[in-house]
Amino acid sequence: MSERPPQTLVHTLDRAGQSHILRWWDELSGPERSALVAQIDAIDFNEIRRLWLAARAGNESAAADTPAERARRAQPPADLVRLPETLRDRELWSAAARRGEELLRSGRVGVILVAGGQGTRLGFPHPKGMYPIGPISGCSLYQLLAEQLLARSRRAGVAIPCYVMTSDATHDETVEFFEQQRFFGLDATDVRFFRQGNMPAVDAGSGRLLLAGRSQLATSPDGHGGLLQALKRSGMFADMRARGVEQLYYHQVDNPTVKVCDPAFLGWHVERRADVSTKVVAKRSWDERMGVAVSVDGVAQIIEYSDLPDDVAQQTESDGRLRHWAGSTAVHVFDREFLERLASSQPGLPFHIARKKVPHLDENGEHVEPAEPNASKFERFVFDTLPQARTALAVETDRAREFNPVKNADGADSPATARAALCAIHAGWLRSAGQAVPAGATVEIGPLFALDAEDVQERFRAGHVFDGRVYLG
Ligand code: UTP
Repeated sequence: MSERPPQTLVHTLDRAGQSHILRWWDELSGPERSALVAQIDAIDFNEIRRLWLAARAGNESAAADTPAERARRAQPPADLVRLPETLRDRELWSAAARRGEELLRSGRVGVILVAGGQGTRLGFPHPKGMYPIGPISGCSLYQLLAEQLLARSRRAGVAIPCYVMTSDATHDETVEFFEQQRFFGLDATDVRFFRQGNMPAVDAGSGRLLLAGRSQLATSPDGHGGLLQALKRSGMFADMRARGVEQLYYHQVDNPTVKVCDPAFLGWHVERRADVSTKVVAKRSWDERMGVAVSVDGVAQIIEYSDLPDDVAQQTESDGRLRHWAGSTAVHVFDREFLERLASSQPGLPFHIARKKVPHLDENGEHVEPAEPNASKFERFVFDTLPQARTALAVETDRAREFNPVKNADGADSPATARAALCAIHAGWLRSAGQAVPAGATVEIGPLFALDAEDVQERFRAGHVFDGRVYLG
């Protein structure tokens, strides 16, 4: 093959100091060349250079004001609903739940499930959503989440559309899995998959793009904040509008105890006329690796744990409790209009920069597995939408019940801790229905059997007998 690369491409790469990525052009087949050109065409070289310069200067957020500087001015969230303590609080929470149920029945709620992450810490060789998490059933995270949605739709008497964000790393297997599993009982037309974008990795020292292969740049998904552009590009906003969807219940694929479409949370969101709401839980300790919801100069935001200086994280109130206690669970409700407006506004969400180990080809075409972080990677985070909101509400929730993510292969936030949490929650539901469940029993209740303790109580009132079998699905 001797055809030369297109002149405009050569100029663009020359100007950007990135000509090395055509090094093996002469050896590539036609399809390989086309794939490489498509990857290059998707890159905004000025932006990559700006980000790399920011990374080199040590400004990890690429923003004017560093996150650590902002953290020093942080106050607890201004718009906040705490867990109920008094009878009056409980009445308000019940009213919020009724309002959320009405909203669900009106068909104005959709779900966004973000499942584009690479799940590197878990090390599972498939999309994380396929991970078998059921303590007894071995059902996948996808199944647990989809069945919750199905149960919630049945209860509301309407279909709740689900928008599943995938990435190049997860798309094909995810779609195939849903198809194989017949969409877990959901109507296939109510499950819409859309793919997020990629960002290239650059060599941290030189700013040069890294090659994963001779015809392939080293790229990774552009972060869950890639959601906004991905929704727009894929026509999902139009789909939502056509279905009359106005509120979006956003959650991640990795938390099997998330309450999908929790009515009370939806109710608080509309009650307080928020653009975005976030479920928060009390951090376990000042150094827990969790983003915290705060207000800085009157603007709501979430500060990543890595951006919170130790002395700020350690601050306490006069009663000794942590001042920055409100850990984000990454469960949100968004107004569709708010997301749509942000997706069309410039410059879009900021990029965060991380130093990572990125395998690549060296100039001789040899594969390099770096022992130390060698590259800068760029990601957008969905919680950077908060500062753009007129009202960003934080709603406190019970951590043991709702926040048990699967991040690591073992230790904290692992499948073992998530399964233990599921068992403890489900044993509690059975006990609330008057059943004797020994401490430490392995108990699993599928979402189609019950969504909460009240459902279980109802089942038992209706004559269901707990026959010692522990799986109720
Ligand atoms: P994490 O930030 O925990 O990343 O994602 P991860 O990919 O699951 O795991 P690690 O960090 O590589 O170990 C939180 C949620 O955001 C989604 C993930 O799928 C998960 O639901 N996510 C993350 C995306 O959808 N896209 C991304 O680019 C990153």
